[in-house]
Amino acid sequence: MKLHVHFIPYEEITAPVAVVIDVLRATSSIAVALASGVEKIYIAGDLSEAAVFKKLHPKAYLAGERNSVKIKGFDFGNSPLEFLKLKKGSELILTTSNGTTAIKKSMQSERLFTASFLNAGIVVNKILELGEDTQLICAGSDGHPSLEDTLCAGYIVNEVSHVSELTDAAKIALNLYLRNSERIEQVLSQVSSHGTRLVSIGFEKDVAFCAKINVFNVLPTLVDGALTKGE
Ligand code: MLT
Repeated sequence: MKLHVHFIPYEEITAPVAVVIDVLRATSSIAVALASGVEKIYIAGDLSEAAVFKKLHPKAYLAGERNSVKIKGFDFGNSPLEFLKLKKGSELILTTSNGTTAIKKSMQSERLFTASFLNAGIVVNKILELGEDTQLICAGSDGHPSLEDTLCAGYIVNEVSHVSELTDAAKIALNLYLRNSERIEQVLSQVSSHGTRLVSIGFEKDVAFCAKINVFNVLPTLVDGALTKGE
């Protein structure tokens, strides 16, 4: 099994398994939403696509951010702590600046999962179970690599490296993780540009929460264009 990391979502998807990572905060929020009992998350690339989904699924909540702040007229922002309050059985339409864009760009892969520190363990188990070439796709921040996504990719690489052939990009992510494995929360809240920005605008609790490892045993899985709880 070959393991590769995309530092930003621009490379071609060639592996049968794609795992999209946006630790701050889209894929952390997705893990929380599904763990709270949300049935389906429709992934919208932009506001007009979100409006189309809303027409098709009027009961679904609209969630998302621009510049990290809740979109005007939406029910929720993109806060994982806020998503803890979502009702069981509800549906969500989600659009974010980087995370949902990375998911949309990766949809042509045979299998797509999303990962964050909060649910990395179950994703690792799935990669090991499938044993197929896997691309870890970091959402990054506005076209630039981000520390938090690369760090989470490195965590996953570390857990599967014993049975994988690593590309240089995977080795870079692994090295970043090994150098920082004892200070993940510090990297997220004090070193990462997006993390420090989120802290500066009042989302410090979200950032600290997103640094926790394996809190939820949920495997966000793309089925018919929406994310749902996989096995
Ligand atoms: C994104 O997708 O760009 C992020 O999740 C942004 C954020 O919530 O701050």
